[in-house]
Formats: sequence, structure tokens, C-alpha cells
Amino acid sequence: MSTRPRTPAAATPAPGKLPLPELAEMKRRGDRIVMITAYDAPAARIADGAGVELILVGDTAAMVMLGHTSTLPVTLDEMIFLTRAVTRAARRPVVVGDLPFGSYEVSDEQAVTSAIRMLKEGGADLVKLEGAGRMVARARAIAESNIGILGHVGLTPQSATKLGGFRAQGRTAAAAIELYDAALALEQAGCCAIVLEAVPAPVAARITEALTVPTIGIGAGAGCDGQVLVFHDVLGIEDRILPKFVRRYASLKADGVEALGAYAADVRSGRFPSADESYHLSGSVAETLGLYGSGLAAG
Ligand code: KIV
Repeated sequence: MSTRPRTPAAATPAPGKLPLPELAEMKRRGDRIVMITAYDAPAARIADGAGVELILVGDTAAMVMLGHTSTLPVTLDEMIFLTRAVTRAARRPVVVGDLPFGSYEVSDEQAVTSAIRMLKEGGADLVKLEGAGRMVARARAIAESNIGILGHVGLTPQSATKLGGFRAQGRTAAAAIELYDAALALEQAGCCAIVLEAVPAPVAARITEALTVPTIGIGAGAGCDGQVLVFHDVLGIEDRILPKFVRRYASLKADGVEALGAYAADVRSGRFPSADESYHLSGSVAETLGLYGSGLAAG
């Protein structure tokens, strides 16, 4: 008999919410799964409007939202705060709350407690943690607590220093086999999907074939069951670093600088605000106040 925990039944999904088993069905049908990160309500509405299946409130928030140079400093409280903003706004997509560094490594109990907080306080549908090895037991403890969980292997930014920096993983035969074993162990532990980051495409495709749960790739080639990218990279809000695997679909930072420049010019020249963009007084009130003819009265 399999020791793999059941996929968590959890509560009945909110009306309009994509049912979780649909992700496994999509893999079975060969339909690609779309995931994007989001860290606030407006981004969640954009992602929902675009019809993505999954929103990841990733700990990349540390870098793209909070200005840190790595993902390590973001706290569980900060991640819950951001996740809450996303879950208030996202209707259909399944929302994954990322467990940040330091919130699950110490013990299974710490991992389950953090995951419970992410669901109860953040409103997340699922959680995600990084790594294999001892983290497989953490993932199992969370899954056995009826909390849906995603694994994440390959380049795991929380351990980037140990991995020698932000670089592709699984490039030797031994490393590829280790990655394959790690993904299978996480599936066996009860993960309902596995993120594969910066993994050679043939290795990711082989892992995808071997798993029954979906793989979501980022820099892992087209053979994965789905893809994830960072919201700010896709929309060109973050334009300082462009990893090889990012495709940019808009230039919102450049558009924003241009738009705010035009606003600043209008303020400085007095073109903003216009009369139409101002509130006015009725003629009688203006007269009483001695403001008639000041240009502030309606008529
Ligand atoms: O934190 C994050 O945004 C992630 C994705 C890059 C997969 O883990």
C-alpha cells in the first residue's frame, strides 16, 4: 500500500475558485498550467483577469517588492501580509503562499505551524517550500496536516549561497539523478506540484514524465506541465536583471517613468489640474464667500 498522503481535501473551494484536482487533470490532458507571481491586490486582479491558474506569492517579494538583494530577509509575517492582499483580490486562481527562509527548517512542527498561519491568516490555498533532503519530511508533515503543498527543487534561491550562486542545477549526470530522486521523493511526500527552477530542459522533461503531479518550470524548458515567471519581470517593472529564461511582455517601468514625467511637467507648468479636474462652488455660495469671479465658482 502506498504511504503517499492523500491530496488534502481542505474546505470546499470558494465559488469561482479553480478546484485543485483540476491541476492534475490538466497534466493528464496535456493542457499547460500557467502560474505567475503576485504580491498585492492590483497584481492579483491583473493575473486573475488574464486567466492564470495559479498565483504564487513568492518570497521573491523580498527582492522585487521590498528592495532586498536576496530572498532571505523576508519574514513569515511579511509574507502573510502580502498573501492576504493577494487572496482578497484573486477570485479564480489558486493562491500559493511561499514559506520564507527560517519558517520551516527547524522542525516538522515549525513547518506545520507556519503553513497553518499562511492558510488561516494569509488566506492561501496552498503553501510552497524549497529543497529536498530533510525538507521532504517537512513537506510530508504539512501534507499530512491536510494542507496542500508544492515542492521546489533545482535552483532554490533560499540556498543560493550553498549552491554557488544563482546558476542552473542538475547539469552533471550525478546532479541530474539527484534532482530526479528529489522530485520523486517530494511527490511521494504528498506535494501536489513541483516547481523546477533553472534545470536543463531534458532533465526537467524526464522528471515531468516520471511524476504524476504537475511540474511547473522556471528556466526548465518547454517539457514541464506548466510555467511560472515573476510578475515584475514579465511586465518589465523590474528591468535591472534579466535572467536568460525571462520573456518580457511589456515595459511598464519605462511607461511609468514616461507617464510620471508627463504628470510632473503638467504640474510644473500649471496644466494640471484643469477646471474639469477641480471641484467648484455654486454661484450663491461663491457670492456669499466673496469668491464670485475668482475662477473658483461654478457659474
Ligand atoms: O519566490 C518565487 O517567486 C519563486 C518562483 C521564482 C518560482 O519561488
